[in-house]
Amino acid sequence: MSLREMSGIGAAVVAGVLVGFSLIVDGLNLWPMPASVSYGSRTLYFSKDLQLRTEESNYSDVSGILKDGFSRMIDVIQTTHVVDGNVPSSGALHGLHVRIFSLDDELNFGTDETYKLFIPESGDDTYAYIEAQTVYGALHAFETFSQLCIFNFDTRIYEIHSAPWKIVDGPRFPYRGLLIDTSRHFLPLPIIKKVIDSMSFTKLNVLHWHIVDRESFPIQTPSYPNLWKGAYSYSERYTVDDAQEIVQYAKIRGINVLAEIDVPGHAHSWGFGYPSLWPAVDCPEPLDVSKEFAFQVLDGILSDFKKIFKFKFVHLGGDEVNTTCWTTTPHISKWLKEHHMNASDAYTYFVLRAQKIALSHDYEVINWEETFNNFGEKLSRKTVIHNWLGRGVAEKVVASGLRCIVSNQDKWYLDHLDATWEGFYMNEPLENITKPEQQKLVLGGEVCMWGETVDASDIEQTIWPRAAAAAERLWSPIGKLATNPNQVATRLAHFRCLLNQRGVAAAPLFGLGRAIPPHQDSCMRQ
Ligand SMILES: *[C@@H]1O[C@H](CO)[C@@H](O)[C@H](O)[C@H]1NC(C)=O
Ligand SMILES: *[C@@H]1O[C@H](CO)[C@@H](O)[C@H](O)[C@H]1NC(C)=O
Ligand SMILES: *[C@@H]1O[C@H](CO)[C@@H](O)[C@H](O)[C@H]1NC(C)=O
Ligand SMILES: *[C@@H]1O[C@H](CO)[C@@H](O)[C@H](O)[C@H]1NC(C)=O
Repeated sequence: MSLREMSGIGAAVVAGVLVGFSLIVDGLNLWPMPASVSYGSRTLYFSKDLQLRTEESNYSDVSGILKDGFSRMIDVIQTTHVVDGNVPSSGALHGLHVRIFSLDDELNFGTDETYKLFIPESGDDTYAYIEAQTVYGALHAFETFSQLCIFNFDTRIYEIHSAPWKIVDGPRFPYRGLLIDTSRHFLPLPIIKKVIDSMSFTKLNVLHWHIVDRESFPIQTPSYPNLWKGAYSYSERYTVDDAQEIVQYAKIRGINVLAEIDVPGHAHSWGFGYPSLWPAVDCPEPLDVSKEFAFQVLDGILSDFKKIFKFKFVHLGGDEVNTTCWTTTPHISKWLKEHHMNASDAYTYFVLRAQKIALSHDYEVINWEETFNNFGEKLSRKTVIHNWLGRGVAEKVVASGLRCIVSNQDKWYLDHLDATWEGFYMNEPLENITKPEQQKLVLGGEVCMWGETVDASDIEQTIWPRAAAAAERLWSPIGKLATNPNQVATRLAHFRCLLNQRGVAAAPLFGLGRAIPPHQDSCMRQ
C-alpha cells in the first residue's frame, strides 16, 4: 500500500460525485486543512459502538474532558443518520486509542494543541491512534476524525475511506478568536453554547465576549450589584453562575473566554445603576474621569471577573473615546485644569490607570488600537493591541515590541455583510511583517460578530460560513493555504454543508454574508 503524500492545494480539492440521490464527497474534505496529511485507498467500517482506549496515557481524565469529548464526537458523527447496519467481519474499526502526555488539563493562552492521528488500513482489533501533548490536542484530533466519517446508505453504517491516514497537525497561531457582543442584543445561553459548539468544529480557540457596552449592562457584578440595572430587561441578564457555565462549557471544548469591558468610552449603561459615573445626565459618556469612584467600580468588576474568567488576558477596550463631555461638564473641566491635563491627557490617564488595575488582578491587557495610535509608547509592555480600524497597524505594533491581534474591519468584521468569504480567507495577519521575532508578536486574529443587527434569530448564519474561512487562515500552515480562494471553494462549500448537517444554520457560501439560498439545488451549489 503506497501512501499518496498530499502536497500543495491543487490535490486538496476533490470534486463531489453524485451517486443515486446522495452526494458522496470523497477524498480530502477536511476543514481547516491539517499541517500534514497522507492517505491510502482502503475502506474501514464502524457501527454504533466505537470504543475509547486510554490505558497508556499519563492523563487520568478526572474531569472527564476526554470522555465527554469522545461521546460528543460520536454524537456529532451519528447525528445525521440512524445507524442500524452490521459491520462486516473484516475491515472493522473498533475504536480510538488515545495517548496524552501531559497530566493536567489547564487551558489558557499557549496551551499545546498539537496532535497526531493515525488510522490503520485494517487488521484484527483495529484501533485508530491519537497522540497529543494535552487533552485539548486530542479534542482537535476527534474533530478531524469526525470529518473523515462517511455514512453508507446501503449498509447503514459509517465508513472511513482512503485509509490508512496519517495526520500530523497543530495551529499556526495560538490566538484564533471570534467576538460576540451581548450588549447591543442579549444572547441567551443556549445560543452562546451553540456558537461555542460550532467554533470547536473549526478549531477556533478564543470566544471574545464583548459583554457590556453603552446600550446594556447584562452581567451580574457582586462588587457593584446595581450595574446590571443597565440591562435591557429583567430577563436579559447573566448571573455569575451563568457566566461560569459559559466558561466551563467552552473550556471542555478547548475554548478560552476573553471577557471585555470597554472603557472609558463605551460605558453609558454603567450609569443606570450608578448615575455618578456619568459626567452629566445629558452627557453620559465617557465614564467620569474625575471621580475615584469610576476606578473603584472598575476594580470591583475586575475582581469579580477574576473569579469567573481564568484566561490570561482581559480586554479593556479603549476605542472611540469622545472626550467632549469631559471638557463641557464644569466639574470635570475644573478637575482637568487642576490636574494640568487636557482631554487627550485624561484619556491616556484613564486607560493607563485601568491597565494598572487589571495588572494588579494578574491579568495581561488587550486594548483596541486607538490606545496604541494615540499613546502607544506609554502603554504597559504587557499590552496586546487589538487592530480593527485598518491596515498597516499590526506592522507598527510589532515593530514597537508590543503584541498584536488582527481584526481589520474591512476583511474580518462579520457584521459587514459585504465582506466576502474570499476576503475572510485571504486576510493574512503577517502581511508586510517579515522578521521572525516580529512575526511571533502577532498572536493571531479574530473575526468580530458585532451585535447591532444580530440576535438569537440570525447570529449563526451571520457568523458561518465566513468565520470558517478565517479559521483556516489562522490554523493551517502558510504553505497549505490557497493563494487563490477559488482553490478551496469546493472544500469550504462541503464544510458549510457539514455544518448544516450538524444543525448549524450556516448561510450559503456564495454571495453576501447571511444570504438566503439563491436557487433550488444541492447544498454544495448555494
Ligand atoms: C508520561 O510522561 C513522561 C514525562 O513527560 C513521558 O516521558 C512519558 O513518555 C509519558 N508516558 C506516557 C505513556 O504518555
Ligand atoms: C462627541 O460627543 C458630543 C457630546 O455628546 C456630541 O455632540 C458629538 O457629536 C460627538 N462627536 C462625535 C465625533 O461623535
Ligand atoms: C495636550 O497636552 C499635551 C501635553 O500634556 C500635549 O502634548 C498635547 O498636544 C495636548 N493635546 C491637545 C489636543 O491640545
Ligand atoms: C502592505 O504594504 C503594501 C505596500 O506598502 C500596502 O499597500 C498594504 O496595504 C500593506 N498591507 C497591510 C496589511 O498593511
